[in-house]
Amino acid sequence: PAAKPLAGSHAVVTSGPTHEPIDPVRYIANRSSGRQGHAVAAALSELGARVTLVSGPVSIADPQGVEVRRVETARQMLEAVEAALPADIAVFVAAVADWRVTQEAEAKIKKAGEGAPVLTLAENPDILATIGHGANRPAVVVGFAAETNDLMANALKKLEKKGADMIVANDVSVGTGVMGGGSNTVHLLTREGVEDWPVMTKDEVARKLAERFAIMLAEKAGR
Ligand code: C5P
Repeated sequence: PAAKPLAGSHAVVTSGPTHEPIDPVRYIANRSSGRQGHAVAAALSELGARVTLVSGPVSIADPQGVEVRRVETARQMLEAVEAALPADIAVFVAAVADWRVTQEAEAKIKKAGEGAPVLTLAENPDILATIGHGANRPAVVVGFAAETNDLMANALKKLEKKGADMIVANDVSVGTGVMGGGSNTVHLLTREGVEDWPVMTKDEVARKLAERFAIMLAEKAGR
């Protein structure tokens, strides 16, 4: 029985970047590959959970045994996550674009000779915070924090602000090779304190995290 501690539970995972359209052929995005998020979805499935993976545009394969909902924008991602609830565990690994272009152009923007176009940006919804403070909040809510400076101070603020039980902080500074790479060095932040993990592959990080989420869920259920 210990092999499938998440049997009978439902987990929702977000992964990848979002694409925010500028016009029909251009968009704003970021360097997220989806590797860590997809690995978390696969690891939760391995532990017996039914998993809904809400993924932005990525070029990696769907994990096996996982239901994948593909989206492009942050607003579509929020909608897909809300539609997937209720869930016992929600893990927000996606690198959601903080801003979208206020008004997507209906036709391709042309070089008109009157200078460069100006893009006006609007703030996207925070999916983690919306779910973390929402009425339908899963028992276990986990966020990721990709930081390039003041890693732990920023992650601690996010724990409270976003209503999460844990923030997995990772340093994505240039030179770490985390964005797009195969390995990751993470720090687990909860209200109990900080745990520093050694560098591991993203698959190993995912497996160990999934085991931890199963323990967190069991503790919540036992209360
Ligand atoms: O504030 P920041 O973007 O660094 O927070 C990172 C965490 O919040 C990640 O778990 C990410 O998936 C989530 N997030 C989100 N929706 C946003 C921005 C971030 O779910 N619009």
